[in-house]
Parts: sequence; structure tokens; C-alpha cells
Amino acid sequence: MRFNGKTAVITGGSSGIGRGTVDLFLREGAKVVMGDIDTDEGSAMMASLGDDFHFQKCDVTQEDDVKALMDTAAEKTGGIDIVFNNAGAGGPRDSIDEISGDDWDFAMALLVKSVAMGIRHSAPYLKQRGGGSIINTASVCSFQAGFGPVAYSTAKAAVLHLSKVAAADLAQHKIRVNAICPGFIQTNIFAATVGANREETNQINAVLGQAAASAQPVARPGIPDDIAQAVAYFASDASGFVTGTHLLVDGGLLVGNRGSWDPEEPGILDAILPDHLK
Ligand code: NAI
Repeated sequence: MRFNGKTAVITGGSSGIGRGTVDLFLREGAKVVMGDIDTDEGSAMMASLGDDFHFQKCDVTQEDDVKALMDTAAEKTGGIDIVFNNAGAGGPRDSIDEISGDDWDFAMALLVKSVAMGIRHSAPYLKQRGGGSIINTASVCSFQAGFGPVAYSTAKAAVLHLSKVAAADLAQHKIRVNAICPGFIQTNIFAATVGANREETNQINAVLGQAAASAQPVARPGIPDDIAQAVAYFASDASGFVTGTHLLVDGGLLVGNRGSWDPEEPGILDAILPDHLK
């Protein structure tokens, strides 16, 4: 019960990583206020998760919605201690030589401005509590090309840097800011990005699970609870001296190419050297 007496605000909690984090934080004693555009799922969660959970419709691209979410959380529970700026989607998939300015702006509003405004409008409440912890969802895309669209990847790199700069700004108020960088986690984000229906979503998730497990050293797909556990570390007192940094939770995806860890896969030298020089 690491979060007894604490209030956590979580965005994007109707699905995937956010949902896994809602469940863990409730199990650990927090009051959770969750914002999402998926009102059907949010309302269903309100009906089933009990009095420590509150859902409010919130489109994180809209500053007024983000502010209203923080105001409601403080009003309903007496203050805010933990903020998980997590809502997101794959966004426009166009390459850099084709993307429109409007699509670019949308991706930045969804993935970067949302986080900045989440920090901006929760900070006054965290200050009132004498400090707190903010966790932002970045990605393996923050570091490398090839895992997501160009606008998404650029935005996730910005989330990483925003977390560091905000950590420096807010340290004087005992507010810590860190980023979490998931690898391939089995959620609906990939299917949602291409507009798949329910059946296609299940198929995509099954294939993704297998593909991720064979692409990374830890041979299983990531699940939302893998990320929730890392968020809980950043949110808890165990990380009291940790700010302005990030945690990769990717099953080793960024460790290197397959040849660097899979004995069945020839390394680069094996591939290019003639047999007598191997
Ligand atoms: P998901 O699709 O399962 O959940 C995303 C949630 O965000 C949904 O409930 C959706 O309704 C909500 N959302 C989307 N746009 C919103 C908006 N404008 N306002 C409020 N809520 C909105 O996806 P997942 O995977 O749980 O994604 C959560 C975060 O993790 C995102 O920021 C994503 O970019 C990030 N991420 C996910 C990875 C993965 O492999 N699943 C890898 C790296 C990062």
C-alpha cells in the first residue's frame, strides 16, 4: 500500500498502459482521478472500480480540459501528489517529406503540449502538498528511428527533454519529474493508429506479441503492468533522490541488433568474413 493517502492523476487510463497503472495504484491505496477521451470505457470504470476512482472526460490536446482535470482531482480528493501524463496515440503516419503542417501540429499537441500542460496545471497543487512526483510517458522512439512515425518519435524525444528541464525547474518545490520509456507493449495503440476494427485489433495484438518477443532479448511481449510497476517506482518514496531521468522498460529492445544477443543469429563479422577468417 505504497500510495495510502495519496492522490494520483492519470491520463489515458481507459486502455493499455494507463489502465494497468490505474489498477496498480488503486491496489496500492491511492485515490485515482483519470482523464481520457474514451468516455464509454471511463464511465464503465467509474461504475466498477469503487469510490477511490473518478473518471472525467479530458482531451489532452485541450489545455482547458487538462486544467479542469487537475482542478477536479484537487477538489474531490483534497490535493494532488502524483501525475502520470500518459495519454497518447500513434498520430499521423506520414513520412517527413509528406506530412502536412496541420498533422505535425496535431502530433505535437497530443504528445508534447499535453505533457507540458499536465505539468503546468498540476504544479500548483503539488506545491501546495509540499512536493510530489510527475511521470511522463516517452518511448523507445525517443532514441531511435524505426519504431514509430517521424512526428511521434520527434514528440517522444521532446517528452524526454521536457522531463529533464521541468525536473530542474521544479526541484526547488520538491517536485520530481521523470520519464518512462516503454518498448513494445501489448496494447491497442498499434491497432488504433491504423483504425482497425475489434477483430483486426485482436489479430494485430497477437502478431505484435510474437514479433516483439522475437525482436528483443527478453523473449516475451511487454504488458501494461510492466510499465505500471516502473511508474509506481518513480511515484513512490523509493525514488526520492531520482529526478530528471528516464527508465527504459523495453525487454532489452535497445540493447543492440539481434546478432549481439541471439546465439542463433550470425553477428556482423560472421556475416561478412570468409569462413577461414571466422
Ligand atoms: P492505448 O491506445 O491502449 O491507450 C491510450 C489511451 O489514451 C486510450 O485510452 C485513448 O483513449 C487515450 N487517448 C488518446 N488520445 C487522447 C486524447 N487526445 N486525450 C485523452 N486521452 C486520449 O495505448 P498505450 O500503448 O497504452 O499508450 C499509452 C502511452 O504509452 C502513449 O503515450 C503511447 O505513446 C506510449 N507508448 C506506448 C507503447 C506501446 O508499445 N504500447 C510504446 C511506447 C510508448
